[in-house]
Amino acid sequence: MIHMIVAINSTRTMGHHDSIPFYNPEDLAHFKAKTLNHVCVMGRVTYESIPKKLNNRMIWVLTTQTDYEPMHDNVIVFNDENHLLEAVLSYESDIYICGGLQIYRLFFPYVSVLWLSRINDDFNGDVKLDHFEEQLNLVNTVQYDTFVCEEYHR
Ligand SMILES: NC(=O)c1ccc[n+]([C@@H]2O[C@H](COP(=O)([O-])OP(=O)(O)OC[C@H]3O[C@@H](n4cnc5c(N)ncnc54)[C@H](OP(=O)(O)O)[C@@H]3O)[C@@H](O)[C@H]2O)c1
Repeated sequence: MIHMIVAINSTRTMGHHDSIPFYNPEDLAHFKAKTLNHVCVMGRVTYESIPKKLNNRMIWVLTTQTDYEPMHDNVIVFNDENHLLEAVLSYESDIYICGGLQIYRLFFPYVSVLWLSRINDDFNGDVKLDHFEEQLNLVNTVQYDTFVCEEYHR
């Protein structure tokens, strides 16, 4: 099943200057719990914004750079969005679309489940999430101490 996982704040900001402008350890733990032992798909900008190796996960990175050398040994590089899409669609276990915005836009039509974290923060950053959830059905809401996670199904 293809999942999409993203965190936004009250201004729908998901990024600013190539990084996430809010720091929420509880949501990061949620991200880890969801994605552990699964494949994570991400764009090159998001991959480079992650400060350390994501252990126990395979990372599939999309970039136009044919000579791209990833920083970690758990990364597979794709240069062609169609090859990546074929790999995602034929993968037989859960797979997580982890951003950024370009990658969410490419893969949203194929996403079955959206995990949308709403962080209590009002910073107005330069990357805003599209209203993807309006095309899906809200099936569950979990209130954590510092954020709310909404689960949507297609
Ligand atoms: N809040 C969250 O949950 C969350 C999650 C993830 C990311 N973010 C934030 O989102 C922002 C990044 O999003 P973004 O949309 O700017 O970047 P992105 O989606 O992470 O990566 C974009 C890059 O992917 C590659 N790419 C995209 N489409 C391609 C295609 N069709 N073929 C080949 N390569 C392709 C290109 O890499 P090359 O330039 O190398 O060719 C492009 O520059 C950052 O601020 C990040 O912190 C937030």
